Amino acid sequence: RQQHALQIALDGPAGAGKSTVAKIVAEKLKLFYVDTGAMYRAIAYKVLKINAPIDDETRVSQIAKETEIVLDHSDKRIVWCDGEEVTEEIRSPDVSRAVSVVASYPGVRKRLLELQRLEANRGGVVMDGRDIGTYVLPEADFKFFLTATPEERAKRRWLELAKIGKEVPLQEVTQDMVERDRLDTEREVSPLKPAEDAIILDTTGIGIDELVTKILTLVQGG
Ligand code: DC
Repeated sequence: RQQHALQIALDGPAGAGKSTVAKIVAEKLKLFYVDTGAMYRAIAYKVLKINAPIDDETRVSQIAKETEIVLDHSDKRIVWCDGEEVTEEIRSPDVSRAVSVVASYPGVRKRLLELQRLEANRGGVVMDGRDIGTYVLPEADFKFFLTATPEERAKRRWLELAKIGKEVPLQEVTQDMVERDRLDTEREVSPLKPAEDAIILDTTGIGIDELVTKILTLVQGG
């Protein structure tokens, strides 16, 4: 990899604050922000859109291979799937429910791993996901694993959805999230778990500013 291209891995379960923190840290350090969850979501979106059987691993893996996913690196963070803008669509509860199944298939992960490594080769990155520190960027300079209580995480997700006009009952968000965490943690390939050398940060009751400051301090060695 490019010399001095800083790599920061941010992993953790849904709603732990990864994407919010990653965006700000990337901006402050002038690094690319890569949302790997958006890639998995784009594949899940496509599977649902073309009505492909989600339990058909071979078919879904084939779809992943044929799908063109582009992440825009501007502030708007637009996500394109085969030339269609899907930025909002990939956050729908249907996609959220389908995504863990899609992400459990090795064929899908292999394809997205290629894309993720290509993104990392563009220069310094903050990459958020589930297996960045363990698998995608095992040599990352910094690995953070963000956690928070399930109650707090569900509430954050719910607020995020409300902000983009998606009114979903909190109980539904909580149930979906707990189920998704279970699938993500129990899957055989690249399960959600902290890398051995990850710094674990419990974000329960901690504001974004404080969290960002903490991470920046650690990264800048101050
Ligand atoms: O971060 P997110 O909620 O947008 O991620 C959506 C799903 O994608 C998540 O349930 C698990 C999967 N995922 C993954 O398996 N590996 C990653 N590196 C990122 C996301």
